[in-house]
Amino acid sequence: VTATLHTNIGELLTNDPAVGAGVGRLHHAALVVSDGLVQWVGPADRAPAADERVDHGGRAVLPGFVDAHTHLVFAGERSDEFEARMAGEPYDGGGITRTVAQTRAASLDELSQRSHRRAAALRAGGVTTVEIKSGYDLTPEGEARLLQIAGGLTTETTFLGAHTIPEDYRHRREDFVAQVVGPMLDACAPYAKWIDVFCDRGAFDVDEARTVLAAGNARGLRSRLHGNQLGATGGVQLAASVGAASVDHCTHVSDEDLEALAAAGVVATLLPSAEFFTQAPMPDVRRFHDAGVTVALATDCNPGTSFVTSMGFVLALAVAHGHFSVDDALWSATAGGAAALQRSDIGRLAVGARADFVVADAPRAAHLVYHQGPDAIAAVYSSS
Ligand code: NIG
Ligand code: FE
Repeated sequence: VTATLHTNIGELLTNDPAVGAGVGRLHHAALVVSDGLVQWVGPADRAPAADERVDHGGRAVLPGFVDAHTHLVFAGERSDEFEARMAGEPYDGGGITRTVAQTRAASLDELSQRSHRRAAALRAGGVTTVEIKSGYDLTPEGEARLLQIAGGLTTETTFLGAHTIPEDYRHRREDFVAQVVGPMLDACAPYAKWIDVFCDRGAFDVDEARTVLAAGNARGLRSRLHGNQLGATGGVQLAASVGAASVDHCTHVSDEDLEALAAAGVVATLLPSAEFFTQAPMPDVRRFHDAGVTVALATDCNPGTSFVTSMGFVLALAVAHGHFSVDDALWSATAGGAAALQRSDIGRLAVGARADFVVADAPRAAHLVYHQGPDAIAAVYSSS
């Protein structure tokens, strides 16, 4: 096994509390990687010898971004809805069925190619771990097809059969929930790690969501949830009561909601680009921090509310409109995302962690928040 010394790192964010609070910043640093894992981290002038040496020329290095919420397997696009929303029309989730129709009609080849391109764009922007949900087919075979495509891109696959009530079930919601927890779950459980529900106004209510999550848990899938995006509809409290890994969106949260999340140790995954493109108020992260809630940031890549494949853009929005400091945004997009996926091997650069990291094309990691586009990044390293 060869050991590689990455040295002359101007600024290194480790997210290691043993190094320092918050992002665990080191200057003039180095790290040694072997077998895909971090073997040593510290000041460059004290680095051990290694087989190979990469000089980063004073650039900044940080953990790869962990994008813990995407719906990137779909066909078609909905720029007409985007135009209507920018002209003042509100988002109500109604467009999901349009993407369902386009996705069902797409060939396996087309769907996987589009999904691979989106995943590649995320990676070029520094994402080294991505979560991917199903939810744009809503039939047993079709949802399984989406999850198989997702499984070619990540191990963090999520069954979101409860994304919306399809047209043909509009007046038979109970039948659809039975379909989700029956044949659809049967077909999808082998390909999914997580189960998720769009628990919100116009989608699934708290009781329906509880039923779906419990059925998934019984099949070994762990819970995550879309909650409180369109209103204070009880999703956040449900996530806390079932001990979900994460509740996502959290656009409308009360102080009691935040207390419940903190007490249950549920991560809040904020999706600033979805707020931006639906013209919804962006949650103020200071309330989450004051309540002691762990916060993640993700793209929510989907054709309706956030056709975004750039974590840098999400970070910029979080800082400009969500009251994140640059360091907090970088932490939430790395360590926060890892917490939302209950992973301790990613989101940090400490001995034993996976050697998944981004080299900024600048001496400061803040560069990735302030400058958008793949040219902000000099290199992306990951162990798989
Ligand atoms: O996370 N909220 C539910 N799902 C997506 C939007 C889906 C769509 O409009 O296609 C979201 O915002
Ligand atoms: Fe989403």
